[in-house]
This record gives sequence, structure tokens and C-alpha cells, in this order.
Amino acid sequence: MKKVNNIAVLTSGGDAPGMNAAVRAVVRTGIYNQLNVFGVMYGYRGMLKNEIFPLESKSVANIIQRGGTILKTARCKEFYEAEGRKKAYENLKKHNIDGIVVIGGDGSFNGAYKLSQEFDIPCIGLPGTIDKDIAGSDFTIGFDTAVNTAVDAIDKIRDTADAHDRLFIIEVMGRDAGYIALHSGISTGAEHIMTPEHIIDVQDIILELQANERRKKLVNIIVVAEGSAAGGAEAVARQIKEQCPQLDTRVTILGHIQRGGSPTCQDRILASRMGYAAVEALLNGTSNVMVGIVNNKIQYTPLEQAIKAKEHIDPEWFKIVKILAS
Ligand code: ADP
Ligand code: F6P
Repeated sequence: MKKVNNIAVLTSGGDAPGMNAAVRAVVRTGIYNQLNVFGVMYGYRGMLKNEIFPLESKSVANIIQRGGTILKTARCKEFYEAEGRKKAYENLKKHNIDGIVVIGGDGSFNGAYKLSQEFDIPCIGLPGTIDKDIAGSDFTIGFDTAVNTAVDAIDKIRDTADAHDRLFIIEVMGRDAGYIALHSGISTGAEHIMTPEHIIDVQDIILELQANERRKKLVNIIVVAEGSAAGGAEAVARQIKEQCPQLDTRVTILGHIQRGGSPTCQDRILASRMGYAAVEALLNGTSNVMVGIVNNKIQYTPLEQAIKAKEHIDPEWFKIVKILAS
């Protein structure tokens, strides 16, 4: 087992509330274990540009409650190439870094996996994404906050929808995953939820809206993931307006408000436990795994498995939506 002395932490890809709490946990657990901890700015881009700085305990004071990421984040094209990763590794070596913790989504894990394979540097992934589209953890850092932001917004929209007897089509984030739509939709009593994973024909929704109209149910909420099989909220609204011009229809796109804000208690706890477990893994000689929490217990999943296995939504969830909204 190689002894780890100097570790680096970075945030990469789309930011997620709770990333700061995870950075704090990595830094403080590292320092507690007499490690030198470095922060890499702007994800892999900073690794390539040698934007790598030592972090102290006080560097992460007063951040557990803050959204965004103090380490900043970025997407980096050069890192897709072996040449780019070589340059990044050489910069890590300048600081004698012998272990890294990458907080990000599956793209970031792909990068970490390649780096670890090519240069024998232990990498630990922490799932930081509001989309919750990573296998090996019941929840990802940021999902709970994002979904609660969406719930708060949809509740408010329902008030005005109710006042005017309107149909609202609300788009939430999720280019490839429908978890935000599913969770926010069920918890706000949405009549329909559209996701990338589950194909629902807009024609079927139109038939149900018409049936609702006949029984004087005019207030309807459709929550659409941005990557739903039928397209985003605008595309769905266009079809409905064409065939049901009598319905008073409005579209709201929630957008990036879902990525910001102070993390919920659940996200802070998740991030703190995962950050701690990431350093423990490096100290124990475990490498190239993602830290997850399954059934409230820390679980390590090989990075390549976390990347490949997409979470699958059980169709029963959609049955629940239908029954509860009827
Ligand atoms: P996320 O981590 O949120 O899924 P991205 O997919 O944008 O976000 O990935 C973040 C960064 O990780 C990319 O900009 C790139 O630098 C790196 N990355 C993603 N996929 C790969 C890959 N297949 N090989 C090497 N690096 C990758
Ligand atoms: O963080 C994940 C995600 O929110 C996706 O659901 C969304 O499509 C994407 O990020 C948008 O990211 P950006 O605006 O940074 O390209």
C-alpha cells in the first residue's frame, strides 16, 4: 500500500449545492490526518494550467452553507486528450500530489478514471450533481437542494394557476435524467411528469386534459425535464396549444436557479460524510472508486462502474404519479 502525503481536491463539470461542504470535509479530514491538502481551481482546466494552491483549515471556514464552489468549476476540452492529461499529471507532480478527490458528475469521473489508469495516481470520486444520474449512491450532492428549489417554485406557480384556472407546463433541469422532474412533480401533485427515461405520448396527455376539462378540472401542472423524450416545455406546450387552444396555457422554465442556493441539511450531511470517506479511502490505499451512500451506509463503487451503469427509474414511479393525480 502506497502512503499518501499530499492530496488535491477539485470540483468539475456542473456545480451543485453542497460542493463546498464536500471540499470542506476533504480539507479538514486531510489535515486531521496530517496530510497536505491542495485545491485545484476550475476543475481539470486548473490542473492543466497549474492553478493548484495549498489549503488550510481556515481556507474552508464559513463555506458549508454556501452554494456554488469556492474552487470554481469548468469544462475542459484538452482533458479529453491524452496529451492534456499528461500535462495535468505533470503539474500534480510539481506539488508531489499523490492522491486526488474529484467532486463532479459522470463526465468528471471519466476524466479521473483515465488519469488514474494512465499515471497510477489514486483518484476518488464524489458524486456532485443535481441530476442524481450516477449509479452507486442513493443520492448525489446537490440533488436534494435542487429538488427543493423546484418544489418551492412549483408550489408558487400552482397558487397562480389555481387563481386563473390555468394549465402550467414547467420545465426543470435534467438533460439526460428525470429525477428532478420525478421528485419535484410527485411532491407538488403534478398531473403529468415527462422525463427522458419514460416515453409518454403528448397525445395521451392531451386526451387526459380534455377529459379533465369535461369534468371542470382546469388547473393542471405538467412537469417536464429539459431532456424529456418529447422535448422541453416549449415543445410540449406548442402541441397542446395547437390542439387545445381553449385552455389557458402558460410555460415556466425554472433553469439555473435549481443549481444555486444554500444546500439543504441533507446535502450538507451527504457532502460531509462523503468528503470524510474519500480521505479515509485514500489513507486505506483504496483508489479509483466513487464514494456513495446506499441505505445510509458508505459504499465504494469502482469508478468505471459508476460511469457505465446509468440509474434506471422503476416504471412504478409513473404509476404512482397517475394514481395520485387522478
Ligand atoms: P459532469 O462531471 O458534470 O458530468 P462534464 O461531462 O462536462 O460534467 O465533464 C466535466 C469535465 O470532465 C469535462 O469538461 C472534461 O474535462 C472531463 N471529461 C469528461 N468526460 C471525459 C472523458 N471521456 N475523458 C476525459 N475527460 C473527460
Ligand atoms: O448539472 C447538470 C445540469 O443541470 C443538467 O441537467 C443541465 O442540462 C446542465 O447541467 C446544464 O449545464 P450548463 O448550463 O452548465 O451547460
